[in-house]
Amino acid sequence: MSYTETKDYWEGRALEMGVSPQATTNDYYMRQIEIRNLKHWLRRTGAATSHVGDVGCGNGYSTLELASEFPEFRFSGFDYSQSMIESANALKAEQGIENVGFHVCDLTADELTGEFDVLMTDRVMINLPTWEEQAAAIDRIWRRLKPGGSYFMIENFTDGQTAFNAVRESFGLDEIPVRDHNLFIDKELLHVHIADKFDVVHFENISSVYYLVSRVVYSKICQDNGDAPDYYDDHHKWASMLPSAGDMGPIQLYVLSKNSS
Ligand SMILES: C[S@@+](CC[C@H](N)C(=O)[O-])C[C@H]1O[C@@H](n2cnc3c(N)ncnc32)[C@H](O)[C@@H]1O
Repeated sequence: MSYTETKDYWEGRALEMGVSPQATTNDYYMRQIEIRNLKHWLRRTGAATSHVGDVGCGNGYSTLELASEFPEFRFSGFDYSQSMIESANALKAEQGIENVGFHVCDLTADELTGEFDVLMTDRVMINLPTWEEQAAAIDRIWRRLKPGGSYFMIENFTDGQTAFNAVRESFGLDEIPVRDHNLFIDKELLHVHIADKFDVVHFENISSVYYLVSRVVYSKICQDNGDAPDYYDDHHKWASMLPSAGDMGPIQLYVLSKNSS
């Protein structure tokens, strides 16, 4: 999909889903895992943190969860979809949370301004149509961070997608394809690109156990019973509460620290 088609997709999704927690993904429980990890790492950055940017914040559901958990930090949410930002402002008003502002901003157009202690992207880079654009967007994140600032990158990676699909195949399940508007990230390219910009503080495959339970075990049960999978099924719920283990899911977390070069 082209850049314009992907942007139209998100605009349409924003209009269709409004303030729903599923506006940016149907997988509610995977989202809870992501938020849990973001909270953990924000807590770890502690006193060094004052300004946190959530780039590609969608309707602000996660940003507001984080802002209410950390009232001592100032949050800014950015998204290129006008309608996502309108929903984010509506949710903010509904929840009465003051330490967050939402702004229309296109990461590819170099519209991100300001200085940040922490920047995060959660399934955002994968919406850019080429690796070159993903790499340029990572550079923009790097430029807007203070020295020693942190980039929490939760994105989908090709290796994890291949790995869990191989397990699906061994269970007689069809491959789950990458969606048309997504380009998953190649970890080898990422590592070469960030080597002189960031230190890798932590890596975790936060979707491995969850995908093995929800996309293999539960999918197999559904297939055998002739049922349609349900994102709110208890398999998803309980799987989301298990600790991380293994390296077989697409959605992975890098905690990066801007280095001194
Ligand atoms: C999969 S959603 C993730 C939203 C949110 N981070 C979350 O965790 O639910 C991707 C979001 O990135 C936004 N996005 C994609 N490309 C962007 C760009 N170039 N600049 C700003 N936002 C972008 C989309 O509008 C969409 O809201």
